[in-house]
Amino acid sequence: MNQVETDREDRIRRALHHLREGTTDQWDDVAGFEAREFTDPEVARRERERIFGRVPSIVAHSSEVPKPNDFITLRMPLNNVLIVRQKDGSVRGFVNLCRHRGALLEEQESGRCRLFSCGYHRWSYDLDGSLRAITRDNTFGEVDRSKYGLVELPTEERHGFIWMVDSADAKIDVAAWLGPEMDAILAGYDLDGLQCVRAEGFDEPVNWKIMQDAFLDGYHIQYAHPNSAAKHIHTNVMTFEDFGRHCRFVAPRKTIDKWIEDDPGETSLAAHVTETHFVGPNCTLLRQPDHFQLLTFRPDPSRPDWSRMEMRLIVPPVERSGMDPERWQKLWDKNWEILLAVLHREDFPLLRASQVGMASASAGPMVLGRNEVANHLFHRETRRLVEESS
Ligand code: FES
Ligand SMILES: [Fe+2]
Repeated sequence: MNQVETDREDRIRRALHHLREGTTDQWDDVAGFEAREFTDPEVARRERERIFGRVPSIVAHSSEVPKPNDFITLRMPLNNVLIVRQKDGSVRGFVNLCRHRGALLEEQESGRCRLFSCGYHRWSYDLDGSLRAITRDNTFGEVDRSKYGLVELPTEERHGFIWMVDSADAKIDVAAWLGPEMDAILAGYDLDGLQCVRAEGFDEPVNWKIMQDAFLDGYHIQYAHPNSAAKHIHTNVMTFEDFGRHCRFVAPRKTIDKWIEDDPGETSLAAHVTETHFVGPNCTLLRQPDHFQLLTFRPDPSRPDWSRMEMRLIVPPVERSGMDPERWQKLWDKNWEILLAVLHREDFPLLRASQVGMASASAGPMVLGRNEVANHLFHRETRRLVEESS
């Protein structure tokens, strides 16, 4: 076992100890919060600008734009975005808008193309964003084409993900944002060798922080998911590490139960846990024994009570899986269907109802328990970003 594996076994043994004692890692204190954090348009505006307009967040897995000329589009809180794999293999991001009269340049969610051509008056742009052609330019008049290329957004590829800051004025430095611990953790997972086999987005009438909170929560499992997740994962037991902007926690799966009585000795327990990472400012990365799930949460561009969640299943590619393609596809399709069913039948209805609850003018103060460790970190970091001057 190397150091990383030994440390993981230690964290799992601490979780096993909690399981035996009926305890969990705890935050220093309980903390209050208010409903308006999830309903106030001014709070939402500040979050869009000071969080998404300032720090990097994950927008896709690299395998979603595998080759030069591949693109995807997405809606960030502040900009409509176009992400394109360049000829040299790098990835660049642009505002998805024609610089002539502002038409949405690319309407497809994903595709491949040699140039982007606007449907309105057919101006065209190269993959690197430069303005290639103005139609009927003998009549259009003199313009400096170099000033009317696509507006570029700070974009970086690192650890198999594409990251972006949602403002053309910002700079991006993903390693600095991650900090040494989370950067090393992600580097160790070989995520760029994996493949995003399924991805889907869900627009829900729920504030993005209510959504993010639910996917850092080990306390609700037995109550909200009695016949699904609770059969496999223990409720309210975790060992937690605070990395400042980010965190990681281990939750034991029920297959660990035979070791509650018996001493596991040197036996590896790594197959009996889910490791969850909060990668700030808006993502949950779940590391399962044989794959990863990435969940991202983004505020709606204008409505505080709406957000978009994206879910991705990131797995070893078929060539490395030792499976025939059909079996591989079936396995991950089945996995995906189970995840979707839990989301749609169990999490989303509860979270929509939470948003309705938060709309009460006299909601009164609410409280996070010491056991809700990762939620404390998420609340602390969100507040810190909004309050920091720059
Ligand atoms: S708006 Fe795009 S070419 Fe006119
Ligand atoms: Fe849940």
